[in-house]
Amino acid sequence: MIVIFSGLPGSGKTTRLITKAKENKASGIPVCLFLNGENPDLARRPHVKPGGYMGCRTKGLGLRIDHTAGTRETSELLLEMKKGSCAVFDEAQYYDTDIVNGWVQASKNGITVLVGSPSQAQLKALNKFAKHSPSSVQFEKLDTTCSSCEKVATRVTYNGDYRFPIHLCEDCLKMKHDTDIKNLLDDMKAGNPFPNELKTYQPFYDIPMDKWELVRGDSLSRYQIMEAAISSYEPNAPDVITQPQHYTYLDLGCCSGFFCDAMANKGYHATGVDVTKHFIEWATRLAEIKGQPITYVKEDALKFISEIDTTYDITSTFATVQWVMVQKGYESGMECFRHLFRKTRHICVVEMGYTTEDIYKDKIEGLEGDIDRDWVLNLMETEGDFETIALVESGSNGIWRDLFIGFKKETEINLENKLFKINMMSKAKKLAKKVLG
Ligand SMILES: C[S@@+](CC[C@H](N)C(=O)[O-])C[C@H]1O[C@@H](n2cnc3c(N)ncnc32)[C@H](O)[C@@H]1O
Ligand SMILES: [Zn+2]
Repeated sequence: MIVIFSGLPGSGKTTRLITKAKENKASGIPVCLFLNGENPDLARRPHVKPGGYMGCRTKGLGLRIDHTAGTRETSELLLEMKKGSCAVFDEAQYYDTDIVNGWVQASKNGITVLVGSPSQAQLKALNKFAKHSPSSVQFEKLDTTCSSCEKVATRVTYNGDYRFPIHLCEDCLKMKHDTDIKNLLDDMKAGNPFPNELKTYQPFYDIPMDKWELVRGDSLSRYQIMEAAISSYEPNAPDVITQPQHYTYLDLGCCSGFFCDAMANKGYHATGVDVTKHFIEWATRLAEIKGQPITYVKEDALKFISEIDTTYDITSTFATVQWVMVQKGYESGMECFRHLFRKTRHICVVEMGYTTEDIYKDKIEGLEGDIDRDWVLNLMETEGDFETIALVESGSNGIWRDLFIGFKKETEINLENKLFKINMMSKAKKLAKKVLG
C-alpha cells in the first residue's frame, strides 16, 4: 500500500505523516524514515542526517531519520526492507521521479509506503500506477481554510518570512495581490528619484503601469534582445531554454528588478545587485508579492563582484558601470568589468553610458579619450575572453543605447531574427561581419 499526503505548505502534511508513522510503530510495525540528504536544499538543514530528528509544526511531535541517501541508493534500501514494515518519505519531491518505481516495488513486497509532498511528476507516475492497481494507492488531501474567509485555501503567500505560509483562496489572494501592488506603486510614486511624480527609471516587469512615465521605456525591448541571445546560444548549452532552473543569472545594477523578474519568470535563478536602497526594497517587495525566489543584494557593484567567489551562467550590467567610474574613477569601472567577465560562464550583456552623453562627459577621473561604441567593443575583445561578441545597435527594436553581448562559446546569431540590427564579431574568425543592415 502507498499512502500519499498532499496539501499546501503548512497544511499539516508532516504532522499527519508522523502521526501515522507513530501509530504503526506503536502497534509493533518497524518504521524507517527517509529524507533525500543529497538534495542541496535539505542537506543545508543540520538535522538532516541519520539519527537526526524530523519535527513538524505540532510542538513536541517528531520522528528519527533513518536514511538520507539519494534516489538510487534509497530504491535499493527499499528492496532490503522486510514484508510488513513501513517506509516513510517526507519532502518526497526532492527525490527523482524514479523513486516511484521503488515505492511501487516496495508496496508489491508488502511494505506500507507513506509519502509526503510528492512532486507533480511523481504524482503523475503514481496516478498511472493507481489506474492499474487502485486498491494499492490511497490519496489523502489535507485541506486548509482561507485565512481571510471561510473558503478552502488553494494558494499560499508569504509576508517577508518564507517559513510561515499564509493560506488564501483564489479571490482573497487576488485581493491581497492587488492591494500589495497598489501600495508598492504608491510608495514608488512618493519616493526617489522622482518624488510625487508618476515617473520612475525602469518599470516593474509584467505589472500594468500605463500612466507612468518611464526613463527606460525600452526595458522590455532590451529583455527581448537578451532572450534572443540566449536562444542563439542554445546549441552550446542544450537545456538553457528547457531547463532554466539549472542556470543562474546576475544583473549588476539591477535597479527595481525588471530584468531579474523577467528572468525568474522564465525559471532562471536570478540575483540582482544595486547600491540604491529603495530600488532594492521595491524589487524585494515585488518578488515577495509574486512569490519569486529572487536574491536581491544592496551593495556596491564593484564590492559585490570582486568579493563573490561564485560564477553566473548569464550576466548583465545595463548603464551602471559608467556610474561606478563617475563615483570611483576609471580603473574601478575597469575592475568591475574584468570581474564580471571572469565570473560569467556563458553570456554577458553590457550597456554602457557613453561619455558623448552630457551627464557623463568630463566626469570620469582617469579616463583618456572617450567611452563610445569602439571603446566597449575593444574592452570586450581584450578583457572578456568571449568567442563571439554581438553588437545590437541603438534604435533596433526600439533600444535606447547600443547593447553588447559576449558569448563564451562561438555562437551563430539567429539570422531569421529580423528584429535586431546586429553586428557580430567572432574572435575565432578574427573578423567583424555585418549581419543585418
Ligand atoms: C542608469 S540606472 C540603470 C538601471 C538598470 N540597470 C537599467 O538599465 O534599467 C543606474 C543604476 O545603477 C545603480 N548604481 C549606481 N551606482 C552603483 C554602484 N556603485 N553599485 C551598484 N549599483 C549602482 C543605480 O542605483 C541605478 O539603479
Ligand atoms: Zn478567501
